[in-house]
Amino acid sequence: MFDLYQLSEEHKAIREAVREVCDAKVAPNAAHADETGEFPQVSLDALRASDFHAPHVPEEYGGAGADALATAIVIEEVARACASSSLIPAVNKLGTMPLLLSASAELKQRYLPKVAAGEGMFSYCLSEPEAGSDAAAMTTRAVRDEDHYVLNGVKRWITNAGVSEYYTVFAVTEPGVGAKGISAFVVEKADAGVSFGAPERKLGIKGSPTREVYLDNVRIPADRLIGAPGTGFATAMRTLDHTRVTIAAQAIGIAQGALDASLAYVKERRQFGKPIADFQGVQFMLADMGMRLTAARELTYAAAARSERDDADLTYYGAAAKCFASDVAMAITTDAVQLLGGYGYTKDFPLERMMRDAKITQIYEGTNQVQRIVMARQLLKGII
Ligand code: CAA
Repeated sequence: MFDLYQLSEEHKAIREAVREVCDAKVAPNAAHADETGEFPQVSLDALRASDFHAPHVPEEYGGAGADALATAIVIEEVARACASSSLIPAVNKLGTMPLLLSASAELKQRYLPKVAAGEGMFSYCLSEPEAGSDAAAMTTRAVRDEDHYVLNGVKRWITNAGVSEYYTVFAVTEPGVGAKGISAFVVEKADAGVSFGAPERKLGIKGSPTREVYLDNVRIPADRLIGAPGTGFATAMRTLDHTRVTIAAQAIGIAQGALDASLAYVKERRQFGKPIADFQGVQFMLADMGMRLTAARELTYAAAARSERDDADLTYYGAAAKCFASDVAMAITTDAVQLLGGYGYTKDFPLERMMRDAKITQIYEGTNQVQRIVMARQLLKGII
């Protein structure tokens, strides 16, 4: 993956190609998606047309076959233009990762080509109203009935719910045994008994719908079970090990967008007879922003390399990259608003949107407090 610790020509070319698409089609719609809360269909169409909507799907299923680093670069570049849109490739990876890790060959063959072809997106249903950080406390039930399972429950905070055609749903198949009694299933939007709550009214990523998913006696064929019964929680956790890297990528993309806008502004804005870029106080802020972003990007790419190899220390690296990069994104976007002063606080510039969008990266796919629990457990086990 790394050629003497630098990006390969192929990875650089992917960045250039996705940036071109995003500059032309994704960025111009970012403010509109934020202000209206409308799903950025124009982004989905543009990403689908250039095969960046689910780049991680392997070639054997008709996908682009991007490795974990290339996928991170795609998500980073989309987030630089529009964080809401970056959830298209990110959540497609999150939703399908349980299949890639654990599903039968037949189940993968049934669903992955549809995602690769852009026929439908895939969402991931783990959290519930009373089971957020404590994911194993879920109560959604899946009961076997001959050659079917019947699912009942409520899933909450589901990204792209309603827009996605397919859902990985985690449910309890054996009550009373905790994490070992949880199984994973594929549920389709078209299945009878599936419905959605009202869109959540959020601080940021407003163009990406977040809704509850209601499962009311949803009867699905038993062959939609992902892996063996009771392995769902381990699959959910291993999925997050991989996809926390993609949230880190999203965070560095948002931060890069904020730094780019800041650099452009400080060269133009004149006070006390010269561009504010000439003031050392401003330069020190820019240097700190750049330094933090560089460190976050290096950690994210190191985590992506581990994701690609499915290394044992990915659990630590995925958590560390997500935690560090999201804190950096929050700090950089906040400083960016400060650099623009009153202008940064208005919707005339994209910085206030970026600051609001950055906040979610410290919360979803596990709060940064949960990431610290994960990291500490790995350190104490001596894995790092
Ligand atoms: N890989 C594989 N298996 C794992 C694993 C991993 N990284 N971590 C845990 N497991 C398995 C193991 O089999 C483990 O059993 P053993 O210890 O016997 O091996 C079993 O799961 C239970 O693990 P824990 O005892 O560690 O479970 P826990 O109940 O203590 O939970 C936790 C640990 C880290 C707090 C976990 O619950 C967690 O990550 N919580 C946060 C949930 C989260 O990230 N939610 C995000 C939802 S998705 C989202 O946000 C996207 C969206 O659409 C908005």
